[in-house]
Amino acid sequence: MIEKEVYHKRKEGKIMSKVVVLGSINVDFTTQVNVFPKAGETVRGEHFKVTAGGKGANQAVACAKMGAEVAMIGKVGEDSYSSFLIDQLKDAGVNTKHVLKEGISGRTFINVDANGENTITYVPGANEMLTENEIEAMDELLDEAAFLVLQQEISPDMLKFVLKKVRSKKCQVLLNAAPSQAMEEDYLSFVDTLVVNEVELAYLLNQAVSENTHEINKELDVLLAKGVQKIIVTLGSKGSLFKNRDHFFETPAYKVKAIDTTGAGDTFIGAYVSCKAQGKTDREAINFATAASACTVTKAGAQDAIPTEARVKQFLSNKR
Ligand code: RIB
Repeated sequence: MIEKEVYHKRKEGKIMSKVVVLGSINVDFTTQVNVFPKAGETVRGEHFKVTAGGKGANQAVACAKMGAEVAMIGKVGEDSYSSFLIDQLKDAGVNTKHVLKEGISGRTFINVDANGENTITYVPGANEMLTENEIEAMDELLDEAAFLVLQQEISPDMLKFVLKKVRSKKCQVLLNAAPSQAMEEDYLSFVDTLVVNEVELAYLLNQAVSENTHEINKELDVLLAKGVQKIIVTLGSKGSLFKNRDHFFETPAYKVKAIDTTGAGDTFIGAYVSCKAQGKTDREAINFATAASACTVTKAGAQDAIPTEARVKQFLSNKR
């Protein structure tokens, strides 16, 4: 209902369907390694880079690069990284009026191996300093949102507060339940679209995820029963799964040479939401998001690797 309303108004040129991303903004300290170090082992790193990241910021950048009108709510530190992090968002076209400053910027320590896979250690810093009063003061922005995108690099209490707060608002809520964290049982009932990878899905189901797609389809019923409307499971090079009450479908990934998978899931989410904000169907949005994340893995870094809408269209036309 909301989606249709937004779509028609947009077609008539009356409003843009606004996306608000509330979440983390991080400095990523990334080292390229041949193999990940084991416990007690020291390995040599080949390249080291400091780039802008954070699941929230990456998703906001991806939305903006795909043509959506997007505003970011978050906090960076009062440190030397803050202007770099905010400028990266601004340069991509993200409205940063609601990015506040306090403490020390969120940091991650990332290893990327020769296959482009990563391991990430996250230090939340300022990301966990957003307060309820600060969110209350952003009520007007949340009123205008057609989509609210959340992740789990903010504190569980803040996430729960926001989920409850926006229940009375018109926005569709997408939660990327990453990284996994303990939450009260009922929080999923506030979520319209849940996006998880296999590791996060296993955490939510409290069991290993099956290899067989038919079995996963059945396992996802547990989450639908908790009140989620749609679930997207991203499976890396195996593509993704979509499920709601009426449909279940698989979308294969594009075969590309992965250099660095950091931010691929965030690109997928940003591209998916941007397509939804343009009134596209779930299938169309997922197809586009799949191509967008394929482009991201062919470049190093998170935000730096996120393609523009034009680049994704070019990728798709080359594939055809
Ligand atoms: O999803 C990738 C992101 O996760 C990185 O940019 C890093 O900041 C971590 O938050």
